[in-house]
Order: sequence, then structure tokens, then C-alpha cells
Amino acid sequence: MRHFGHGADSGGKDGHMASASDTGRPGESLRTHLRAATMAAHDLLDHAMQAASGWQTRADYARFLSLQHAARAPLEAWLAAHAPADLAPPPQTPLIALDLARLGTPLPAPAPLFTIGRAGPGTALGAAWVLAGSALGNKAIAKQVARIGGGTWPTAFLGDDATLAFWQSLRARIERPAAVFEADGATRAAEAVFAHFLAVAEGAAEAESVSA
Ligand code: HEM
Repeated sequence: MRHFGHGADSGGKDGHMASASDTGRPGESLRTHLRAATMAAHDLLDHAMQAASGWQTRADYARFLSLQHAARAPLEAWLAAHAPADLAPPPQTPLIALDLARLGTPLPAPAPLFTIGRAGPGTALGAAWVLAGSALGNKAIAKQVARIGGGTWPTAFLGDDATLAFWQSLRARIERPAAVFEADGATRAAEAVFAHFLAVAEGAAEAESVSA
């Protein structure tokens, strides 16, 4: 599924991701910059998550939620410890835990080793953008899950309004150009968060193919 990065500024045309040293175009908003820089990473992650679990059956959906919980737990802990209050998205692991309990699935261990490096300007903003922005994708997934599960699967996480409200408040911060040092810091953090999710999804996909 292709989602974001419409338009000419989506970057990565020649198959590699934009790096944090790309300063973007003059006047470009931070959001546009972040989306372009991580579009390829998002596509990879989407595919890895489909491979690891998808959500075609109740068991797939439980694996999807387990993966989300494992990946988000260390990120939420990092944000709680290091981000200013207005840049810490509402924790979603309690909602995922609720859904998993309703599916009768035990909580997974948190994923190890989320390495964001030394925090600086833009770091928390970049990490918050990835976590809060994922609520947009979750909305789309929620519709599919409602259809496939006939409205009977629990969706506290996918239907989380608090994260969408946080997302709306974040938009004012990111829908304008940022200073280069802040954009670079945010981009590095966003790339690190996508890499973290990808590592968790790829680990889960491997475990799935071994057990299949
Ligand atoms: C199978 C998994 C996923 C699917 C199908 C998916 C789908 C989508 C879709 C449809 C959008 C665009 C929504 C819109 O523009 O209205 C989107 C945006 C986004 N997603 Fe995902 N997503 C997935 C996983 C993730 C994960 C795990 C993360 C975070 C780690 C994430 C982070 C984001 C971000 C940051 C945006 C863009 C926010 C912005 O527009 O500024 N996505 N996703």
C-alpha cells in the first residue's frame, strides 16, 4: 500500500532515502521534509508489517498488536523521560494492552535497543511526529479491521482519539519551515524510529516464517 509522499518533493527517486544532511527546499514545511525523508522507510515498514502479521485473521491481528506493543514500549519510555510534555504523545501501549487482553493474548516483552543517540534540537519533535503520524495510518487500518472482523475485534488502539487530538496540536509545529539544525535533528530521530520499528517487524516476520 502506498500512502504518503505524493508530489514532486517526495524524494528517493533513485532508490535511496534522503539523509539527515539534506536540508530540504527553502520554504518547505518540516512535515513535508520529514515525509519526504522517511517515505521509503515507511513503505519498507508497511511491507514488513504485512509480512510479519497483517490483520486478515484474528490471530494475525493479535500478532500485529503484539508487534506494535513491543515496538512502542521503549519509545514511549524514551519520550516520557526525555521529551517536553507538549512533545510526548499520549501513551498507546495501555490501549494495545487492553486490546490484547480482550483477544486473550499475553503482553509481549518490550523490544530491546531503541537507539536514538544523543538528543538535541528536534529529536523529540521527530520522534513524536512518527508516533503521532502513525495514527493517520491507523485510521485506515481501523476501517479494514472493522470490515474483516465484522466489528467484533477490539480497537482501542486503532481508534485512539487522544493520539489524533495530539496529532492535530502537533500540526501547528510542523506545518511551517523549521531551522536547519532542528529539521536535521527531527529527521535523524524520525529515521531512527522508523529503523527501530522495521527491526521489530523484521524480527517478528522471521519468527513467523520459522514457526510456520
Ligand atoms: C502496516 C502498517 C501501516 C500502514 C498500512 C500505514 C498507513 C499509512 C497511511 C494510509 C498514511 C497516510 C494517511 C493520510 O495521509 O491521511 C500513513 C501516514 C503515516 N504513517 Fe503509516 N502506516 C503503517 C505503519 C506505520 C507505522 C508503524 C508508523 C510509525 C512507526 C507509521 C507512521 C506514519 C507517519 C509518520 C505518517 C505520516 C504523517 C504525516 O502525514 O505527516 N506508519 N500511514
